[in-house]
Amino acid sequence: MALRLLALFLCSAALTAKLTLGAPRTFEIDYKNDCFHKDGQPFRYISGSIHYSRIPRIYWKDRLLKMYMAGLNAIQTYVPWNYHEPVPNQYVFSGDRDLEYFLQLASDIGLLVVLRPGPYICAEWDMGGLPAWLLNKTDIVLRSSDPDYIGAVDKWMGKLLPMIKPFLYQNGGPVITVQVENEYGSYFACDYNYLRHLTRLFRYHLGGEVVLFTTDGASVGYLKCGSLQGLYATVDFGPGGNVTAAFAAQRYAEPNGPLVNSEFYTGWLDHWGEHHSVVPASAVAKSLNEILEVGASVNLYMFIGGTNFGYWNGANTPYAPQPTSYDYDAPLTEAGDLTDKYFAIRDVIRLYSTVPEGPVPPSTPKYAYGALKTLSEALDVVSFSGPVKTTYPLSFTDLNQHFGFVLYRTKLPVECSKPTPLSSPLNGVHDRAYVSVDGVAFGILERDKCLSINITGKAGSQLDVLIESMGRVNYGKDINDFKGLMSNLTLGSKVLTDWLVFSLNIDEAVSQGLLAGSQSQEVLAMPISDTSLSTPTFYGGTFSIPSGIPDLPQDTYIEFPGWTKGQAWINGFNLGRYWPKRGPQVTLYVPAHVLSTAAPNNVTLLELEADPCSLGSCTVKFTTNPVLNGTVAQTAAHAFHSFFHRGDLL
Ligand SMILES: *[C@@H]1O[C@H](CO)[C@@H](O)[C@H](O)[C@H]1NC(C)=O
Ligand SMILES: *[C@@H]1O[C@H](CO)[C@@H](O)[C@H](O)[C@H]1NC(C)=O
Ligand SMILES: *[C@@H]1O[C@H](CO)[C@@H](O)[C@H](O)[C@H]1NC(C)=O
Ligand SMILES: *[C@@H]1O[C@H](CO)[C@@H](O)[C@H](O)[C@H]1NC(C)=O
Ligand SMILES: *[C@@H]1O[C@H](CO)[C@@H](O)[C@H](O)[C@H]1NC(C)=O
Ligand SMILES: *[C@@H]1O[C@H](CO)[C@@H](O)[C@H](O)[C@H]1NC(C)=O
Repeated sequence: MALRLLALFLCSAALTAKLTLGAPRTFEIDYKNDCFHKDGQPFRYISGSIHYSRIPRIYWKDRLLKMYMAGLNAIQTYVPWNYHEPVPNQYVFSGDRDLEYFLQLASDIGLLVVLRPGPYICAEWDMGGLPAWLLNKTDIVLRSSDPDYIGAVDKWMGKLLPMIKPFLYQNGGPVITVQVENEYGSYFACDYNYLRHLTRLFRYHLGGEVVLFTTDGASVGYLKCGSLQGLYATVDFGPGGNVTAAFAAQRYAEPNGPLVNSEFYTGWLDHWGEHHSVVPASAVAKSLNEILEVGASVNLYMFIGGTNFGYWNGANTPYAPQPTSYDYDAPLTEAGDLTDKYFAIRDVIRLYSTVPEGPVPPSTPKYAYGALKTLSEALDVVSFSGPVKTTYPLSFTDLNQHFGFVLYRTKLPVECSKPTPLSSPLNGVHDRAYVSVDGVAFGILERDKCLSINITGKAGSQLDVLIESMGRVNYGKDINDFKGLMSNLTLGSKVLTDWLVFSLNIDEAVSQGLLAGSQSQEVLAMPISDTSLSTPTFYGGTFSIPSGIPDLPQDTYIEFPGWTKGQAWINGFNLGRYWPKRGPQVTLYVPAHVLSTAAPNNVTLLELEADPCSLGSCTVKFTTNPVLNGTVAQTAAHAFHSFFHRGDLL
């Protein structure tokens, strides 16, 4: 009897499964009932943003699982074009850039996907995700019908969108909706033909069924240029505002259909030199509750922010680059750790939807490896191609280099026995210039902040100007953000000419170990004008992970006691920029997978301004505690503390 019953049960279960499999998967907008329809049932999503480009691949599963356990039924991610097409027609979709694997993981874990493939994404990402090589056509009008721009977009989308198509919900995948462009209503161009072109392009590659949408700031002003018939208009706004009024703005563009907040801000971004942004969990919980109460779909931006490894951070204007951490004060920290905000959000979601049972995966363990003892100076920067001779300065674009550092070298044309101004009268230093004469550091020129310093030197002395790109503007009208010396430097009233320009591939040199083991540099004379400065220098050191402790390596944070500003690598992995002297970020996140227990780990620093070595502590430290809210060196000229919508950044 018992056996028979069991058999019957199995049979009917199998039947149900078969029926479900056979039923068409649909995801649509129900304009009559103001909601989404998934497989014919009313549906709303509660989603969180996670950018795979800011998290090492080995941690994707951990982060997605934590999102699932918070009660989310979807995630939202951007696709950064410049991450996948670093050089025209060369596509990278492997390792940390394996978008298909990421989408499959989300799907396997039980999360739907709201996909934002750009082409422009903003995202506090270099140039808003647009490849810097687009600037090869110097007068290109980005995000418009400019044929050169459109040509590149068509090619890229012709690669990306067919890859996405099998992941659409209708085709058995997790992708329920696809965003076209990003907050286009905040951009000056207001080119409807461009949006129309994108719509046709997306439809051509993805088919007629998928829900395409736009996102704009929650006011009629933004929606005017951002929305287009055929694209479902959604809005974005953060906690603390009037939810009814914000959705009323969406209703201006979409009188019917689901209410959607595509970016509900759980925290906010940072800039170097401005205080770390925090948003209280209680404010997030309160507004989230109001959003869910009116039946809206929502995406929490960010649910986990992650890290701008390497050179990937963007910038706002007046020029203000974002730091390496993109922690965002999100419910999961940069390192994927659980916070009070995580649990506060889960408690709100629980009021409206079932939150999965079972334990939430724990925070990843951290290990403090202690201080590095053996940092030794290494030699010069490395230029593989040798210098280019030029009368007037060239840009990074001219050199076909898109990130990092370029060295400009010339001779002083005249005797400067008295302090003489070296200036960039047209504010053409993009973005920082480390200036030395005959190997003696004299000062730093900085875009929008310091356009002139004094130098001294004999006629014929070697003038070195190392230019650092601090990240391209990712928002607003100035996204055509060229890097390098973008205008002439003057010495007194003379325009400097006859440069040798060295394109530098430092990452290549670091990962080939070319900078390791170099012996100490010759002792430099102390600079005359500013005794706290030294010329940009590489430092290398090693540390071994202690044996006998189980489960190492673990995540850690690297701290730079006494160091000023630079770039840090471990075993060739570019951790990003450090700048504890300006703040607010003090430590950098070190994911465990870059560390090795098998061989000594190699730490390389490029210190650009001043090292602590003469003070006797030439070390870095590994700690378990991130510090993202250190003191800031200068008060912000412009503090934006409105969390309501991104348009306020204008
Ligand atoms: C930029 O244009 C120049 C000249 O047209 C060409 O030689 C170079 O390869 C181009 N670079 C890129 C990245 O397209
Ligand atoms: C929120 O906005 C709505 C619609 O504009 C308005 O009726 C309401 O009074 C506002 N609520 C508050 C608390 O300001
Ligand atoms: C440069 O030196 C001149 C004197 O020669 C001085 O008046 C001026 O303030 C100095 N400028 C800076 C930026 O230090
Ligand atoms: C530098 O000045 C020269 C002569 O005035 C001008 O032709 C050139 O375009 C300038 N170069 C830059 C990069 O501004
Ligand atoms: C560190 O560099 C040394 C010398 O280049 C190399 O032998 C070693 O494998 C490197 N360590 C790691 C963990 O890559
Ligand atoms: C910085 O953050 C830590 C932990 O997040 C907190 O304990 C500390 O009070 C904060 N410090 C400041 C100055 O806000």
